[in-house]
Amino acid sequence: MGMWRTLRSVAQFRARERDPNLRRLRAAANVDDLRAIARRRLPGGVFDYVDGGAEDEITYRRNQTDLARWEFVPSVLRDVTSVDTSTTLLGRPAPLPLVLAPTGFTRIVHPPGELAAARAAARKNIPYALSTLSTRSIEEVAGVSEGRKWFQVYVWKDRGLVKNMIERAGESGYEALCITVDLAVPGRRERDVRRGFTLPPQLGWEMLLQGMARPSWTWRFLRSEPITFANVTGLRDYDGSTAVQLSDLVNEQFDASLSWADIEWLRALWSGPVIIKGIQSAADARLAAEHGADAIAVSNHGGRQLDYAPTPANLMEEIAEAAGDSLEIIFDGGVRRGADIVKACALGARAVMVGRPYLYGLGAGGERGVEWVIDFFADGMARSMALAGVRSLEEVNRGLVRRRS
Ligand code: GLV
Repeated sequence: MGMWRTLRSVAQFRARERDPNLRRLRAAANVDDLRAIARRRLPGGVFDYVDGGAEDEITYRRNQTDLARWEFVPSVLRDVTSVDTSTTLLGRPAPLPLVLAPTGFTRIVHPPGELAAARAAARKNIPYALSTLSTRSIEEVAGVSEGRKWFQVYVWKDRGLVKNMIERAGESGYEALCITVDLAVPGRRERDVRRGFTLPPQLGWEMLLQGMARPSWTWRFLRSEPITFANVTGLRDYDGSTAVQLSDLVNEQFDASLSWADIEWLRALWSGPVIIKGIQSAADARLAAEHGADAIAVSNHGGRQLDYAPTPANLMEEIAEAAGDSLEIIFDGGVRRGADIVKACALGARAVMVGRPYLYGLGAGGERGVEWVIDFFADGMARSMALAGVRSLEEVNRGLVRRRS
């Protein structure tokens, strides 16, 4: 009798979640868990393209480990019954200092691709940056999102094409232009080299075997329309529908001669805010301000370009000092938790960008996975602020963190 009473008092079964995406997400506690789920669900080549970095992946790892070297200097007994994570970004109010970074080829992770990410971002009221190498077009994304949208520019040798895309972004209501400047030549991503990974992925023997082990990805991939550079389709012979290695694409199509003079050309094409993404020194931050940028993203492209590039965690302070009030600074690299956002802001960032975390979310749980990630960052940020004794981003300053020796 006693046993039954005890059992009744302790037995507790969570109702089984019917939606398989939500079921998977419910089992995740953090971004690493999402990464593990995405890894199980995606073919190895796709996962490695998203997850990998350049060469020895030193910079890729350091983005996170350098952030981990900053610890909080908390204050207690500060009445943290209400904590406000809101800020302004490019002069507009934002509930959270968070932006979804531009990522190429998003459809290889999840067929709705950029549409899913843009919808999730709009629902949470945070900006979504659409990549030049997107697999849904400027107009398609505008069609599903009334939220804040930025257009990321890679400068193709074909300047007419660049101009065309920028004009379309303006006509489609995009708010800002985000010019990526750290990809003059392709970084060597050795996981992709080893696999001979192409974009779009080709179903060779390896992929076929992996595809059989990941039937839901393969089924959805084969059922959705062929992947192309949606922004280029119909405008040029070359539209990304033939499989290429990313390095060949960059070498053939992108302009390695890009210089500060081209920034002026781009600035003149766009009346809204311009963000230069890929700044990696205080001197270049000053140049960006002189060339009319409204914001910079301190970024090493997620460790995918120059290995041994400095990390935002190490650079942020000196860049913030150099930039003063002339620029807003976006911290891009290694952010995996709300606590990281608070630290980035303490070091002088206006906001952070995340790329891989939301792609893991997409791989693990589709559009719901992206929302999961945004909520995870928001909750974590509010909790870290409360535990560190700050109630608003005004109270988040350099004194809130110190670097462990
Ligand atoms: C594209 O920009 C990539 O990093 O793969």
